[in-house]
Amino acid sequence: MTDIPHGLIKGVVLSRYDWTDHLFSLFVEAPIETYQAGQFTKLALPDGNGGWVRRAYSIVNNPKQAEGHQQMEFLIIADDNGELSPRLQSLNSGDEIFVGKEAAGFMTMNEVPKSVDDLWLLSTGTAIGPFISILETPLLDIRFKNIVLVHAVRTESELIYQERIQLLLNRYEKRFHYVPIISREHVTGTLCGRIPSLLLNGEIENYAKCQLNKADSFLYLCGNPSMVKDTASTLNELGFEKHLRKKAGQFSSENYW
Ligand SMILES: Cc1cc2nc3c(=O)[nH]c(=O)nc-3n(C[C@H](O)[C@H](O)[C@H](O)COP(=O)(O)OP(=O)(O)OC[C@H]3O[C@@H](n4cnc5c(N)ncnc54)[C@H](O)[C@@H]3O)c2cc1C
Ligand SMILES: NC(=O)c1ccc[n+]([C@@H]2O[C@H](COP(=O)([O-])OP(=O)(O)OC[C@H]3O[C@@H](n4cnc5c(N)ncnc54)[C@H](OP(=O)(O)O)[C@@H]3O)[C@@H](O)[C@H]2O)c1
Repeated sequence: MTDIPHGLIKGVVLSRYDWTDHLFSLFVEAPIETYQAGQFTKLALPDGNGGWVRRAYSIVNNPKQAEGHQQMEFLIIADDNGELSPRLQSLNSGDEIFVGKEAAGFMTMNEVPKSVDDLWLLSTGTAIGPFISILETPLLDIRFKNIVLVHAVRTESELIYQERIQLLLNRYEKRFHYVPIISREHVTGTLCGRIPSLLLNGEIENYAKCQLNKADSFLYLCGNPSMVKDTASTLNELGFEKHLRKKAGQFSSENYW
């Protein structure tokens, strides 16, 4: 086999769990460096022509979990036309996989200004993964007065992690507000539509029973780049500004493609 490129290390697939036809969790063990909740690393496979195909994937579990940081969960959607994701979906327990030794990314709690009381985590699709990692951080409940998790998906079948969300509701009690949004079905008890319009008309705040405000709120937007772009414009319209290290604002984002 081709030499392993610099930065990648060999790991093994522990198991795969299929949520839907296209959505799955891949559990991987690899001796990677420690990381911060919310970060991503690379998954890679040889391409069969002497090269490698590698892509970024967020780590779903918290690095402080009992199993340790080297057992990782990745939540992945297989794109039928994609080069790597369908191959990842065909992996099984015991298969070889290559993983970036060092995780990266700035969507972490260190980047959130200390003055923030209310943390808003807005995701589409698989981007709920890094937010689960963040939410499972020990002692996070002490830091924030309110934490709102928004998960926007196409169909009800993609509203996953219900058991973990129930555990978070038990742990954070009234501080934690979960807002499920479905865009292509009407399902009682969930919001219908897309994040930007549901922010603009106040439905997300009403559902969460929590108000956004410039002084206390900080938002992370993660997932589909057009959601991130449209939500950023909506937030600008509502008077919020992008957060920069040089100039404090109220929101920051990570695009998945
Ligand atoms: C920071 C970060 C974190 C991420 N985390 C996750 C995660 O947790 N889970 C997750 O599922 N994804 C995540 N992603 C996305 C992931 O990295 C991959 O982009 C995704 O899995 C698609 O990879 P692929 O190789 O299957 O598709 P690709 O081969 O990259 O193709 C993607 C699309 O582009 C089209 N395409 C490719 N090449 C061409 C071409 N030459 N001309 C025209 N069209 C083309 C394909 O048809 C396909 O529809 C993340 C991305 C980033 C940047
Ligand atoms: N989900 C699947 O079953 C499936 C199957 C095969 C391939 N894929 C591919 O996998 C990738 C990810 O799919 P995904 O379903 O996880 O994520 P997605 O396509 O990003 O959809 C997730 C949610 O984001 C919403 N959204 C899209 N654009 C938006 C915008 N500009 N502003 C606000 N919200 C927006 C979608 O609403 P709308 O429904 O209104 O678009 C949906 O509710 C896509 O490339 C997709 O083509 C998905």
